[in-house]
Order: sequence, then structure tokens, then C-alpha cells
Amino acid sequence: MAVPRETVEGERRIAVSPDSIPRLKAFGLEVCVQTGAGAEANYLDAALEAAGATMVPDLPSCLEGAGLVCKVQPPSPEEAAALPEGSALVCFLPTSISPAVLTQLVRRRITAFSFELVPRISRAQAMDALSSQASIGGYKAVLVGASRLPKILPLQMTAAGTVAPARVLVMGAGVAGLQAIATARRLGAVVEATDVRSAAKEEVRSLGATFVEIELEAQEGEGGYASEQSEEFLTRQRELIAQRVEESDLVVTTAAVPGRRAPVLITKELVARMKPGSVIVDLAADTGGNCELTRPGEEVQAGGVTVLGWSNLPATVPTTASQMLARNVAALVGHLVKEGELVLDFDDEITSGSCALHAGEIRNQLMREAVEAGSPPK
Ligand SMILES: NC(=O)c1ccc[n+]([C@@H]2O[C@H](COP(=O)([O-])OP(=O)(O)OC[C@H]3O[C@@H](n4cnc5c(N)ncnc54)[C@H](O)[C@@H]3O)[C@@H](O)[C@H]2O)c1
Repeated sequence: MAVPRETVEGERRIAVSPDSIPRLKAFGLEVCVQTGAGAEANYLDAALEAAGATMVPDLPSCLEGAGLVCKVQPPSPEEAAALPEGSALVCFLPTSISPAVLTQLVRRRITAFSFELVPRISRAQAMDALSSQASIGGYKAVLVGASRLPKILPLQMTAAGTVAPARVLVMGAGVAGLQAIATARRLGAVVEATDVRSAAKEEVRSLGATFVEIELEAQEGEGGYASEQSEEFLTRQRELIAQRVEESDLVVTTAAVPGRRAPVLITKELVARMKPGSVIVDLAADTGGNCELTRPGEEVQAGGVTVLGWSNLPATVPTTASQMLARNVAALVGHLVKEGELVLDFDDEITSGSCALHAGEIRNQLMREAVEAGSPPK
């Protein structure tokens, strides 16, 4: 099993940890890590080596003879072209991955497992890297937002007078949203949250936040996910939620629909009605943004309101994020490997669901269509 150094800018995580390496070795694997791969997550070469990894100085020697490559980010076209022919790959691999990468994976006859495609069933919870990383993103979104607010979050009753707690609104109460609610509550804010899934109501309330009912008939999704709502629904939703947005100091948006553009919940007109000094942290920035003004990876100032569309917040907490991701990797690899060999049972829901390509054949329909059309899928 090869673990190369990540090359995407800002990516500070690693797919293994000193904790996970003995586990991987127990599956019969030799774990070969490129030197420096864990440095930014504070997993130093010596610690990885002491845990049982073989450290190698460069990418070619890391990949040489590998039957399985485990990474955080999807490979670039160049990295995909360097993978050993016929090897297996485990990493984040969204269905929106570029056809150029897919084409290389096909050419190299790669068998690729995608964390985005791991079915969200109880049996696969230990492999659910989307959840482990979303939860870190939700936590960090509140810290980032709080640090940019010109106010404090908790109630203060002092001789200098009483300061009211800040108001935080969380839009989308899935894994990231629930962690954002819990974090904002711990910091003493008054928290409200909204979601289109009725099941979210009880979860929001159990965290001590108020659920903002929008009294609209939402389309129910499948597998615990939301489904895409009509434009009429979203327009009405924006009207109903506008006052809650205006009164909030910090808005954290996490609303997403798998495989679709994120719904726009905050228009630029609504941002103009917000109080100066307010902050929006848009966790949906990479899929189009929940705020109309969001620009992925950037900070936008609009009439005294700060809109943060920063990408990849989990990578800004690299030690914890890698610790959790490494466990997810070990759980998925443990499911696929028996006595050092890849043993794939396509009758198994986890193996079949998470396998995007098998021996160079694209199994995922969206990815297949994208390669056939020569452009990225929606
Ligand atoms: N193993 C499991 O069983 C498992 C694992 C992880 C998550 N889940 C469940 O899956 C669900 C979604 O998880 P996620 O966080 O990955 O979701 P996600 O990232 O796809 O979406 C985030 C949230 O946005 C919400 N949303 C979508 N459109 C919206 C709109 N127009 N307005 C407001 N909110 C909107 C969704 O309902 C969801 O709660 C949750 O119920 C979660 O508990 C189950």
C-alpha cells in the first residue's frame, strides 16, 4: 500500500496515521509512505516509521510495485498516469472529477474506490469520510466566523453592563450543520437552524437550538439526503427565512444536494439587508455556494458583510482530520483486503457502491457519461 505526499495546494492531511498503520499491516499489507507526507498533520516520518511504515524519499519509489494507493485528494491527470497499471486507488473522488483524470485511470486499468460513493448505511459508518470531515468543517466554520465577528458570542453580565449573546443561524442541518450548531452553542451564541428534511428538526432541538420551520412541502430525498427543490420552493424559502438572516450576526450555510449545485438560499439583495459586521461562512462554496455572493476560496466584502467561501476547512485542522480520515481509510481497506490481497465481492453493497472504476472500466454512471461527453459531469 502506497501513501504519496499530497500535492493540492492547501491540502495538509494524510491518509494514514501512526494509529492506523499497525491496523493496515494486520490486513497483510506493507505500508510505504513518501517522506514528509504527514509533516503538515504533525505525523513526522519518525513516528510513521515507528508505527511500522516503510519511508521512501520520492513518488516513483513510493508507487513502485504498489497494489493499492491511498490518498486524500483525487489524483491530478499526471498523478493518475503515474499509478501502477492495474492497481487499486482509495481517495476522495467526486463524480464531478475531470474527464482527463478519469481517462488516465481508465488507461492505467485502475480500480478506484471513492469516499463520496461509500453508501451511508450503518455497516459503513466507520468508512464514512464524508461525515468525519464534514463534522470538522462544521466546527471550524463557526470558529472562523466567530473570529471575524466584531462581537463576542456569549452573554456577558459585568459591571460594564450586559452584552446580549450573538445570534447564529445555521442553514442545512446535516453532519456539518449539526456540528456547527453544537460549536456555536458551546461558545454561548443563541442558535437557530433550518433544513428541508423534517428529520432534522429533532436533531436541531436536541442540541439546544431553535428549528426555524419554513412551512413548505419539501420534496423528500432518498438515503437520508435532501432532494433538489423546485425554483418556486427556493424562492418561497428565501422569503420565509429572510428575517432570520437579517437578524443574525453569523450565518453558517451547509445546504447541499448530492450531485447537484448547492441551492442559493441567500441572495445579494438579502445580504444588503444584513447588519454591517455580520459574517456568512459558506461551506457549500465548492459546489456553487448557498450565498449568491460567495466566491470559492475567497473572501467577499459587501456593504460591511463578510462572505467567506473558503475551501477545504478540514485541511486547516490537519491532525484531527487526518486521525479520523486514516480510520475511515483503514476501515474501507479492511473491507476490501484479505491477507494482503484485494478481494472484491461485487454482491456486497459497500464494495459495489464505492467502486467507481474496476480494472479501468467506469462503473459510475455520471463519470461514464462525462468521459463519453468529454466534459465534467454536472
Ligand atoms: N451512515 C449513515 O446512516 C449516515 C451517515 C452520514 C449522514 N447521514 C445522514 O444523511 C443526512 C445528510 O447528511 P449530509 O450532512 O452529508 O448532507 P449534505 O451535505 O448532502 O447536505 C447538508 C444538509 O443540507 C440540507 N439541505 C439541502 N437543501 C436544503 C435547502 N434548500 N434548505 C435547507 N437545507 C437544505 C440537507 O437536508 C442536509 O441536511 C443526514 O440526515 C445525516 O444524518 C447518515
